[in-house]
Amino acid sequence: MKCSFTLNGRAVEAEIDGLTPLLRLVRDHAGTGTKLGCGEGRCGACTVLVDGEPVASCLYPAANVEGRQVRSIESIAAPDAPLSPVQDALLDGGAVQCGACIPGVVMTLTALLEKENRPSEERVRTELVGNICRCTGYHKIVESALAVTTASEEPV
Ligand code: FES
Ligand code: FES
Repeated sequence: MKCSFTLNGRAVEAEIDGLTPLLRLVRDHAGTGTKLGCGEGRCGACTVLVDGEPVASCLYPAANVEGRQVRSIESIAAPDAPLSPVQDALLDGGAVQCGACIPGVVMTLTALLEKENRPSEERVRTELVGNICRCTGYHKIVESALAVTTASEEPV
C-alpha cells in the first residue's frame, strides 16, 4: 500500500506493508539521526514526533502516519544552522555523552517544551520515562531541560 505523509516539512510517499515500522521510513527519507536501539518500544532512541506527540517509531506502524506530520531529529536544527534551545541546553549542561539516546531525548523534550514553557521537574522526569540513558543517569538531562525553561519564555 502507499503511505503519504509529511516528514520534516517535506511530502513523502512510500510503499509499505502493514508491518512496516515508521522508523524505517524516517531513516530512509530523513537520514540516520533517529536511532534503532532496543527495537521493542523500551529505550526511546527511535523517538519521533507525530503531530507533535512523541512516539516510539520502532513499533509505530508507518500506516498510521497517512496524512499526518512527522518530525525527526533532522527537523530540529539544520547542519549549517544554530542548534535549538534544547540542544544548546543539553550541551551546556554536559548532558550529552553519546548519539544513541540523545536524538530521542531531544525529540521528547522539544515536544514537551513546545507545549509547556515551564514544566516542573516532576513533569520533565515523567515525560522522559520512555528515554533510556545508560551512561549519565538523568540528573544533567533534567537540569538542562529546566534550564531551557528558565532561559526562555518562547516556545522551542
Ligand atoms: S528502538 Fe524504539 S524504543 Fe528502543
Ligand atoms: S548519553 Fe547516550 S545512553 Fe546516555
